[in-house]
Amino acid sequence: MNISHPAHTHVNHVEAIRRDHFKIFESRAYLNSCSQGALANEVRAAYDLYLDQLEEFGSLWDTWVGVQEEVRGQLATLFATHSDQVAVTTSASAAMNAIASCFDFRNGPSKVVTTSLEFPTVGQIWHAQERNGAEVVHVPADSDHRLPAERIAAAIDGNTAIVSITHVCYRNGAMNDIKAIVKAAHERGVPVLVDAYQSTGAVPIDFEDLGADFLLGGVLKYMLGSPGIGFALINNKTSSEFVPTTTGWFAARDIFSMDISQYDPAKDARRFEAGTPNVPSLYAARAGLKFLLEVGVDNAWRVSNQLHNQLRAGVNELGGVCVTPENPGEHGPMLAIASTDEHALVHAMAQDNVVVSSRDGNIRISPHFYNNSQDVELALASMAKNRHLLTPP
Ligand SMILES: Cc1ncc(COP(=O)(O)O)c(C=O)c1O
Repeated sequence: MNISHPAHTHVNHVEAIRRDHFKIFESRAYLNSCSQGALANEVRAAYDLYLDQLEEFGSLWDTWVGVQEEVRGQLATLFATHSDQVAVTTSASAAMNAIASCFDFRNGPSKVVTTSLEFPTVGQIWHAQERNGAEVVHVPADSDHRLPAERIAAAIDGNTAIVSITHVCYRNGAMNDIKAIVKAAHERGVPVLVDAYQSTGAVPIDFEDLGADFLLGGVLKYMLGSPGIGFALINNKTSSEFVPTTTGWFAARDIFSMDISQYDPAKDARRFEAGTPNVPSLYAARAGLKFLLEVGVDNAWRVSNQLHNQLRAGVNELGGVCVTPENPGEHGPMLAIASTDEHALVHAMAQDNVVVSSRDGNIRISPHFYNNSQDVELALASMAKNRHLLTPP
């Protein structure tokens, strides 16, 4: 790499975990896991395995369905829950559409309480349900991106069908207190859907302890997988009466019954699935999840927190503005930094072999367990060089 270390006073030496399994670090400080995780050698090999088997055996349906079940089991382990509460889908959006399709807004409560911090897919899917009678309310976050649970509680009334909230905001990295929100909603008899895509694999989540009714995610970011695999966790204790009207043969109670005369969905979370799984991406997901389970999400979170703090201190010294809330429990791994031209800054940093991304007036820098202090220092050095693109306080 061709950039020198910044002359800031914080000397940090955060060690990465199993960094040598990720080729990209030979050439780049890759700090964009909020968009796509780095490719592990093991995940690359998983694609080869799929192709090798395809070449040698042709169709291997029993094996492929087995891989889907292994992924389901790995997700259950990761979230300390049971496989029968895991639906494996082709995107988080697909999982969410299936959940949204369960509601009968015309004959039951019609209000959807969601927030200003949501990913587009979440807002768009609920607004699509306006055609089925839903009424969507967006609770705004404060200007510092915090969203107190009391504000969500105040928006819930007797006509509320669901609270739909992001765990970590994709734009600014703010993390919501999901347990407090679940408590407030459940006290009022309202289920909660959590979009945890920006925290799954990065922040330890115990699904039973969280208490949410539905949780969405996907594997391509902090879970080291590839596009094509999303998932939903379904709390069987609270959600058994929710039955989707979007479906497909892989959601049927007996996939191989081939029955075209009735809708007989699986009793467990598999009822939220649909058609043929994305088999190549399942191979990648299985390898990525195996790797992540070996590393441990607790360990990943410890490393990314240290790097997040190192980065924040460095940005403050540079005179930049971190828009991500600072307190522990109020942010995920990603740090968002205000820029006068975020696209130009992402581009300029890429010239220094530092990979970050942008949203909404900020650049996003998102460390994971495979990053180390040197990656952060390289990012800070590049920002120092491009100081004119940082928004002043
Ligand atoms: C917070 C969040 N929710 C939802 C999504 C959408 O996921 P999918 O494309 O799998 O539907 C993303 C994707 O980046 C995301 O970051």
